[in-house]
Formats: sequence, structure tokens, C-alpha cells
Amino acid sequence: HAVVAIVPAAGIGSRMGADRPKQYLEVCGQSILAHTLDRLLFHSQISQVIVALHSDDNIFDSLPQAVHPKLTKVLGGGERADSVLAALQLAPQNSWALVHDAARPCLTVSDIDKLLASRVQFPQGAILAMPVRDTMKRANQQGEIGSTVCRDNLWHALTPQLFKAQQLKGCLNAAIAAGVVVTDEASAMEWAGISPGLVSGRADNIKVTHPDDLGLAELFLMRALT
Ligand code: CTP
Ligand code: MG
Repeated sequence: HAVVAIVPAAGIGSRMGADRPKQYLEVCGQSILAHTLDRLLFHSQISQVIVALHSDDNIFDSLPQAVHPKLTKVLGGGERADSVLAALQLAPQNSWALVHDAARPCLTVSDIDKLLASRVQFPQGAILAMPVRDTMKRANQQGEIGSTVCRDNLWHALTPQLFKAQQLKGCLNAAIAAGVVVTDEASAMEWAGISPGLVSGRADNIKVTHPDDLGLAELFLMRALT
């Protein structure tokens, strides 16, 4: 079955506070989105890349990746899940959807391979994730430590997240209709009673969110490109 990559890239990057959406900030010679797309477009097992864009986007068409034959663009929506759903409309029947944040340019080929290979162990789908390393605290109303959260079995959810496209579409639609807060694909699947697999991913697959993350992404990308 075909694997289609879906890239939500319709956010405005409010926490970054830059003069344009963060996916268009330059890191190591090209924009964050261009790095992300390169990783997916050049993967031999990914047949198509669908990128969801903001209605005001006037930068995407200037990327060299915009004319790649594997690439299709769609109009995103108000929430990340709406953008993913818009892209899922174009996923072929029986395909797998590999959903990856535009804002994670440091994804490695080996992590993509690892997630794709996990379909043998997790036919219901899986996500890249990282075991929590630090001691976790839950704050009280006063900004003090209320309690220590047991770290056992606690993971950070990353992307890509890999599911059967039609099933993901159904679960996202149902979860949104039920008013569930859907911050990643897995949460919609969980809500529908499915338990996605956890595949241990690399710590440098960061989501560029705050200005501080730009330097980190540059460092990780520099290492990957040299
Ligand atoms: N995204 C999207 N459609 C939305 C909101 C977000 O496609 N309506 C995308 C973003 O472009 C990003 C990914 O989802 O690649 C993860 O979202 P996030 O890191 O929150 O990005 P932004 O929403 O752009 O940032 P912020 O929340 O700081 O505004
Ligand atoms: Mg956001």
C-alpha cells in the first residue's frame, strides 16, 4: 500500500513571533519547510507529499520544492487537525498517511524507516515518541510544586505519526465532532478506542516553536548535512 506524507504547514507561528510564519524562517540555507519537504520527497517509500497551507500564504510557491512532481498543496484549516483532514481528502484509498509537522525539519531518514517498519508490530498504526528523561512536576495554583508525576511509561509524542488514511480520517472527524481536543493524530485514534504503537525516536527531532529553537535546529541540521 502506498505511503502518503501529510504536512500541516498552515500555522502562523504565534509563539515564534517572527515577521512571517516560522516554517518560512531560514535555517542552514533554506526555509524550515523546505528542509522538512526534502526529507519526505526524497524518501523512496513515500509516493506523494500533501502540504496544507494557510489561505494567506504567498511564500510557498517560491520554494523550489513547490514544483516537485510528488508534491500537492491544499488549503489548511483553523486548527492543526483541520489542516490534516483537508490533506487527507486527497489520500488514495488504502494508503497509509504519514503525518509530519512542517515545523520539525530535523527528521532523519532512519526515523522514517523505523516508523514505516513498525507496521509489522503495530498494524493499527504508530507514532514516533521519546521516553521522558527528566523528573516531572505538577504545579499547584500558586506556581509551586503540587506533586511529582511518576515518570514510568511517560513519553513525549513526536511526529511523524503513521495511520491508515481512511481510518485516521474517520477518527479525526468523529473526535472533532465530539468536541475532543485533538492535538495529534494519535489522540483521535485513542479516543476511538485504538491504541497506537510507540516507536522510540531521536531527541533531535524537535518542533521549532520558540526563537531559541532556531539555533538548535541549525545545529542538528548542520550535523546531518555534513
Ligand atoms: N498547523 C497547521 N494548521 C493550523 C495550525 C498549525 O497546519 N491551523 C501546523 C503548523 O504549521 C505546524 C504544525 O501544525 O507545522 C504544528 O503546530 P505548531 O507548532 O503549534 O505551529 P503554529 O500553530 O504555527 O505555532 P503557534 O501555535 O505558536 O502559533
Ligand atoms: Mg499552534
